[in-house]
Parts: sequence; structure tokens; C-alpha cells
Amino acid sequence: MNYREILKEIKPSKSERETVHKIAKEAIDYINKKSEKENIDVEAILVGSVAKDTWLSGKADIDIFINFPLEKSEDYLKEKGLYLGYECSKHLNGTAEKKYASHPYIISHINNYDVDFVPCYKIDNANQLKSAVDRTLLHTQYMEKHLTENQKDEVLLLKKFMSEIGTYGSEFKVGGFAGYLCEILILKYDNFENTMQKVSKWKNNTKIDLESYGTSKFFKDPLIAIDPIDKNRNVAASLKREKMAEFVIASRNFLNSDNKKRNEYFHEFKKKIDLNYLISQFRDRKTKIITIKFNIPNVPVDSLHPQLRKTQVSLEEKLENNDFSVFKSDYWTDEDEIAIFIFELNVYKQSKYRIHEGPKIWGEEASSNFLASHKDTSYILGDTLVLNKKREFETAKEFIKFVFTCEHIHIIKVGKNLKETIINSYELNDIKELLNNDNYLNDEANISYFNDFLKFLDDFLNPGQLLKR
Ligand code: CTP
Ligand code: MG
Repeated sequence: MNYREILKEIKPSKSERETVHKIAKEAIDYINKKSEKENIDVEAILVGSVAKDTWLSGKADIDIFINFPLEKSEDYLKEKGLYLGYECSKHLNGTAEKKYASHPYIISHINNYDVDFVPCYKIDNANQLKSAVDRTLLHTQYMEKHLTENQKDEVLLLKKFMSEIGTYGSEFKVGGFAGYLCEILILKYDNFENTMQKVSKWKNNTKIDLESYGTSKFFKDPLIAIDPIDKNRNVAASLKREKMAEFVIASRNFLNSDNKKRNEYFHEFKKKIDLNYLISQFRDRKTKIITIKFNIPNVPVDSLHPQLRKTQVSLEEKLENNDFSVFKSDYWTDEDEIAIFIFELNVYKQSKYRIHEGPKIWGEEASSNFLASHKDTSYILGDTLVLNKKREFETAKEFIKFVFTCEHIHIIKVGKNLKETIINSYELNDIKELLNNDNYLNDEANISYFNDFLKFLDDFLNPGQLLKR
């Protein structure tokens, strides 16, 4: 397979590199000068994939870390760091936005590029770590030292492959492989193709320990990649088992393909999604779809996604406990205004009665009491006294309406910031109603969200499409 052609497409050109590095340099120079003038003891440094030379063309996010001395307080770091980020963004005519990860940072859009300004502590080794982002400078230095020029290209191939099969990105929404983890894989397996070979034979609990720290036995995750700069951290801790499995399957599919097909793995899987066909696929499954649309609170996406997942999973569990059988459920959000749960049910409507179990007949007193209170209705099933009880909820919809009230929301585990917005704004629809009639989704201004939602539904119906070509 000739990877040179693919590299031509994904490797930043000389002029793109110059543009990106010029923005980075201007930002860094500005912060370093400004801080000197104002007596703030910091040093701005370029980190992440731009510094490591492992960024995909068109995808540069410029990570600038503002390093503070260890003895400064966290409040000081936050105040001065955000201040310097804002000032720098203003100076370069960017539009700045405050974000939260483990601690606050600023993301600014400057000349069509995203620039992250992240305050952190300057540390020399992982023992001095004060916040999770402090490792990043050490990561950058490690990769600068160890990746060869050729291996940087191999990282690009791996990142591109990962992106197109849908396993790239360690944010909760994806739960896939971080850029740094891709770099570790290339250091371990040397090049892209060998990575495919090795990954296709991965077992559960695969261990990678580049620096031979011997600490992998302390982790139980599906993939254990000991951070070369921190023996107590598994870089793959946030990798979902399912994403690892997808990567393994995709590597096998790739290896079993001819060169023409292999080439397609490095390009976007394009599919035109037809709305009516989509709806007919749902109809064909003969399941019942309930969608729950609601407004989302203004919280960081890192916190929003786990809250949505927790709520959806808990509601599914309670539906099951009430004898509504759930075939599949998931959620989608625009990360801005709304979220939508989708529940696909095998059993949506119940019969009138369920069997309510009383005591076993062997306990004389309990049985007598039970029989006394249910004189005419109880009967024996096996050695247990039972009776037919009228169900409280005949349909799943009734159950959901019951739950989404102030009095009963506690029945499910709801993300802490979602309670109010769900109760106050939720709307129940079947899939066709939602797609055809929802004001928000059908608003011209939200067309890209609508298309993203269609993609989500297509993936809901046909999972795993990205893993093969
Ligand atoms: N990082 C990490 N673990 C993660 C995510 C990020 O250790 N799960 C650290 C890495 O040191 C990474 C840095 O944070 O280099 C910046 O994160 P990000 O921008 O997501 O990764 P990049 O390596 O810059 O890759 P890219 O931007 O090309 O996706
Ligand atoms: Mg980056």
C-alpha cells in the first residue's frame, strides 16, 4: 500500500505550517511580553500536536499552555491565566470563550484556527503534578524527543484512520483514543501498518509499557498504556471497551482489504441519508420509538455528556423493571440548546394485570395475613401466594410522564444539572413526528444540527458502518 498519496492529503503543507506557527508565535510572544511588563511570573509554551508535529492538515488546534511556578495558588493561576488568555485573544482579534476541563481555560478563534490558552503549573516530573493538565508539557517533550520524522507521518496515518472509523478522541462523547495514545502506539509498534497487524491480534487487557515501569498490573482496564512520563497513569483509562473493540475489528477489516479499499479507510465515509428511508427503516423494525426532547442547562460538555448518559441508562433500567422491554436506547445533543433521548421498545404496551407475589405458604402467619387482606383475589402459584394486580402504567409513555415530575423524578438517577430542565421542557414524540414537526430541528438556522441528528439516527439503525469499507 502506498501511503505517500494519503500523506499528501493529510500532512500540513509548508504554508499551512507557517500560518499556524506564526499565530502560535505571535500569541506566545504577546503573553510573555505582557506578563513581564505586568510582573506576572509565567512562561507561555506551545504544546500538543502542533508542537509535536503530529497534527492533521485542516485540524490544527493550537495548544498554548501558560506555565506558572508551583508555589503560586490555584486562584492566582486561574485569575492571571484567564486574564492573559483574554488579552492575547483581543490583541489577535480573536473571539474568546471560557471553557472548563479539570480547570478553566480559554478557547479563542483566531484567523479560523482554534487556540487554547490553558493555565498550568510548570513541573519537571509527574511527582510534582498539581492538576491533570500539568502533564501535557512533559508529554510534548517526551514525543519531541522520541518520535522520529518517519514516525510522525505514521502518527498522522493512524490519527486519520482513527478519525474515519470513529474511534479518535478521548472526550466523553467519543470515548476513543487520544492523540497522545496514538503516538504511544506508534512508538510501540513503529509504524501504521505494523500497528494494524498487532492491534488485529490484541487481547482484552493488552498492556503497553514503553518505559518498562512494571506498573501495568495495577490497572484493570481493557487497554493499559502506562504513561511514559507518569508510571501511575493509564493513558487509555477513558477508552471505552466498545471503542477498543471497534478499533480491533476495523484493523482486521483493513488488513483483509485490497489496496483500493484500504485507501478508502483514509477518507470520509460518505452517505446520503434520506429522511423517508430512515423513517421506513424504523417502521420495518416493528418496534415502538419514543423520543424525549428537552432543553439542556448551561454546563461544560465534559459534564453534560456523562449526565445525559447516566439519565438515559437509568430510565432504560426503570422501563425494564416495569416490564417494558427496551431494544435499544441512546441520546443526541447539539451541546448548545437541546438533547434528545431515543428509546426503542420491543414492548411498549402492557396487558392490564401483572402477577404480584405475596409470601410463601409455609409461613403460617404471613400467609394468613395475606389471605385475609386479599380474600377473594389471591391464589397459589407453586408454593407462593399471589394475586393479579392492575398495572399502574399501561404504556411506556405513561410511565415516562409519571417519572418526569417533581414528585417522582427521584425514581431514576438523573444528572444533577438536568432535573429541572427535563421536568420543565420535555416533549414526547415518535420519530416521525419529531423529524417532521419539531420547530427547533426544522428551523433553517439549525440545518447542520438536523443533519447531525440524521447521521446519529442512521448510526443508531446501522451501527458499525464506519468500521468497514
Ligand atoms: N492529553 C492527555 N490525555 C487525554 C487528552 C489530552 O494526556 N486524554 C494531553 C496530551 O498531552 C495532549 C494534550 O493534552 O497532547 C492536548 O490535548 P489534545 O489537543 O486533545 O491532543 P493533541 O495531542 O494536541 O492532538 P490533536 O489536537 O491533534 O487531536
Ligand atoms: Mg491539540
